[in-house]
Amino acid sequence: MNPRSAATAAPAQTPADAGRDRLNNEVTLTVNRQLHTLRLDPRTTLLTAIRDHVGLTGTKKGCGHGQCGACTVLLDGRRVLACMTFAVMADGQHVTTIEGLATVGRGLHPMQQAFIDHDAFQCGYCTPGQILSAIACVQEGHAGSADSIREYMSGNLCRCAAYPNIVAAIEQGAAAMRESQT
Ligand code: FES
Ligand code: FES
Repeated sequence: MNPRSAATAAPAQTPADAGRDRLNNEVTLTVNRQLHTLRLDPRTTLLTAIRDHVGLTGTKKGCGHGQCGACTVLLDGRRVLACMTFAVMADGQHVTTIEGLATVGRGLHPMQQAFIDHDAFQCGYCTPGQILSAIACVQEGHAGSADSIREYMSGNLCRCAAYPNIVAAIEQGAAAMRESQT
């Protein structure tokens, strides 16, 4: 090898360098009204970003592949499955998790209160996703009847089968949300 070219060649990239490069994606998320700038591997899901990088563990991982709804959060007001959304896709957007629903002064969100009033859970593992999805269901205009609620909440599974109580809670929460807007 020509010694001069060896002296000027860039050093070979090590696996450690490659690992660091993958973390060089800057992602800015506003989570529950608080700005977070994260450095993430582009393969990081929104669920992992929220739980492991922002540190909010109220959003749950159930199946991890889009089948149970436990990871539901609101992204700019729309419900998404955080396990099926790359964090980079949410760059610059607003995320609402279960921790962001109650506010100082106003207390629990009406949908949270309705789930308590109707005892709409047993183990509670699916509940954060159920509540976020229920709020979106109301805002989409899909909570006008028990049948419609069942249809538009069908992406949120409950292994404890608390479904009758969940539907009753959403009916109450929907009425309270409509009332609070009038
Ligand atoms: S954990 Fe996301 S849908 Fe099940
Ligand atoms: S309350 Fe246990 S999974 Fe729904």
